[in-house]
Amino acid sequence: MKRRVARSNLGNIVKFFVDTAEIKEILELAETGLLDGVTTNPSLIAKSGRDFIEVISEICAATPGPVSAEVSATDTDGMIAEGTKLAALADNVVVKLPLTMDGLRACSHFTKVGVKTNVTLCFTANQALLAAKVGATYISPFVGRLDDINLDGMDLIAQIRRIYDNFGFDTQILSASIRSANHVTEAALAGSDVATIPPSVIHQLIAHPLTTSGLDKFVADWKLTGQSIL
Ligand code: G3P
Repeated sequence: MKRRVARSNLGNIVKFFVDTAEIKEILELAETGLLDGVTTNPSLIAKSGRDFIEVISEICAATPGPVSAEVSATDTDGMIAEGTKLAALADNVVVKLPLTMDGLRACSHFTKVGVKTNVTLCFTANQALLAAKVGATYISPFVGRLDDINLDGMDLIAQIRRIYDNFGFDTQILSASIRSANHVTEAALAGSDVATIPPSVIHQLIAHPLTTSGLDKFVADWKLTGQSIL
């Protein structure tokens, strides 16, 4: 279906964020020029074993783009207090808020004061519509967790894309809970603005056996020429 709303920048390309709090993985990917941002969540922070404030500050310094840091509070006032502290850590912090009534209220506040937000744990188009109405910068629909219960996570991305384009919402669709290289392809085909990808899946995007075998053949055949370019 042709998009009704011309995107502000037709050159908008799907952005790749990495879904991890492991600074080593982030640094390696940042060097490739492929990294557009980072998302974290309390489970990834726990897995890193690191101090939250310290590791977010380090990730922000290492990342050229937005870094999502999730609040731990579940009440609006607590989310605002924590999110305000996180936003002060670095200019590229994006405050991550759960899609609850309290999270939407907190998102409204951050929209008013100009702090970027990523509304997370989204599982329906209605939830995504509410997040856009309160000005979320990003919405994170969890594709993999829907697939895990035999629902169609990618269908949700397509629904949200249509709704956002119908009304010209600026909220960016950040496809999350990505489980495979196919998820990345399908998210791009569905018009997702961003995909946040586990490091293991990013490496799957690059590798193909025919690329490997083709390069091996080129190297072997070049050796037969006995020539050197330099
Ligand atoms: O970080 C948000 C999302 O990507 C988490 O995905 O793998 O825990 O379902 P997952």
